Amino acid sequence: MSRLIVVSNRIPGKTVAAGGLAVALKASLSHHDGLWFGWSGRHSQTSAGDVAFETVDGVRVGGIDITRDDFQSYYAGFSNRILWPAFHLRLDLAHFEGHWYEGYRRVNTQFAQAIAPHIEPDDVIWIHDYHLIPLATELRRLGVENRIGFYLHIPFPTPDALFAIPYQDELMADLSRYDLIGLQAQRDVSALREAIDHVAPRGFDGEKRPAPDFSRTRIAAFPIGSDPDAFAELATSAGATKMANRIRRSLGDCALILGVDRLDYSKGLPQRVESYERLLDHNAAMRRRVHMLQVAPPSRDMIDEYRATSETLDAIVGRVMGRFAEPDWQPLTYVKRAYGQASLAGLYRMARVGLVTPLRDGMNLVAHEYVASQNPEDPGVLVLSRFAGAAEIFPDALQVNPFDTDETAEAMRVALEMPLAERKARWEQLDAAVREHRVERWADSYLAELAPRPDADDLEGPRTGKVMHKRLQSVYSSMRAVFENGSP
Ligand code: F6P
Repeated sequence: MSRLIVVSNRIPGKTVAAGGLAVALKASLSHHDGLWFGWSGRHSQTSAGDVAFETVDGVRVGGIDITRDDFQSYYAGFSNRILWPAFHLRLDLAHFEGHWYEGYRRVNTQFAQAIAPHIEPDDVIWIHDYHLIPLATELRRLGVENRIGFYLHIPFPTPDALFAIPYQDELMADLSRYDLIGLQAQRDVSALREAIDHVAPRGFDGEKRPAPDFSRTRIAAFPIGSDPDAFAELATSAGATKMANRIRRSLGDCALILGVDRLDYSKGLPQRVESYERLLDHNAAMRRRVHMLQVAPPSRDMIDEYRATSETLDAIVGRVMGRFAEPDWQPLTYVKRAYGQASLAGLYRMARVGLVTPLRDGMNLVAHEYVASQNPEDPGVLVLSRFAGAAEIFPDALQVNPFDTDETAEAMRVALEMPLAERKARWEQLDAAVREHRVERWADSYLAELAPRPDADDLEGPRTGKVMHKRLQSVYSSMRAVFENGSP
């Protein structure tokens, strides 16, 4: 029987809280006798050793150790100080140390060597995210001929930003070795096609670089989604109600403006707090009537640019408090830690405004979860960045340019004053879009494209039909925890 092999940098652990997407991929794998490989979270003394397997919520998960030095160059260096900023169009925050590429490549080779012995001829392999772009090349080198798909969870860059990346020609050739490349949005499909059609810059030798051949690779957008039913249920659960009651006691009659994000410069948090500062500045009547809560669990804090963002945010939050706080009213609360999904769902439901204003984002599932958690009789308003992948599927949000603090402040004002009828009308459209893009559909459509079978209703068929659907349910939820780190 064919199996699904998922590979990602992070893997579900016993300690990672299960969330929508994470819960989803797990079932697929458990029903399917599938496997999920990735970095174990541990450092080895020498190079990667054997895969250590454990079963997490019924899923066979294989962890691969990597050395401390390789972790630095593969994860902290090439992946997160070159690829991440370049793919998010922040070349100003990139740190170009080309030698990190060796470690990046080496870890991909080690992953391939560790995984290849566990692959059977019929297996379908699904590789996730920018840490593992070269993995198909490395697997093919070891003779793996299976269908291999890649899914990029972050945006694809413009040609200028792409061509700033050291060894981008090799990375493009790596991408051409996949059977299917899935991207979050049409914007990303266009960017990848543009990069393919663009003539890459010549090296110092003046030689033209050979263009990679993408003729066997299908490229398409598969916008990821959430599990809206689970969020709708969570939002009225005991855990959610407990959190909502806690906040309500401290909020009094103030309307809540909520942001929930990893503490990452791509999320536009300093700009967001500055926009809120503008709101209070320009609308004196709003003071004492609103409260902003920003939840921002720290992320990648071994990296200088993340520490700098955190310090910038501390300073801006302090300034806003100093300018506007009064003995009996605080303009905002900034919480630098993660919350469980039930608590978040409770917060989403009581927030009159959901502020999702990244400077650039692959999809942004917080936007989906915010919508799914609303009370249909009294829904809040989503203020959404035009530069999140979610903007393509949520035209009924109040869309803003997150760099424009005046515009974002004005969107907050409009959201706070929006009449119930308009809030309901917008929310109904948003909720329909959330449901249309639910996470099962994302994985179903991706895998149907990667490993299509004509007999889709054949219940014995391992890859499609009802059996596949059941399997997928739990895999999604594992992926959610892994790719979105809890919720933000
Ligand atoms: O969104 C991209 C992503 O890499 C996710 O896969 C991940 O959950 C998130 O960013 C956090 O990143 P990290 O695994 O580096 O903590």
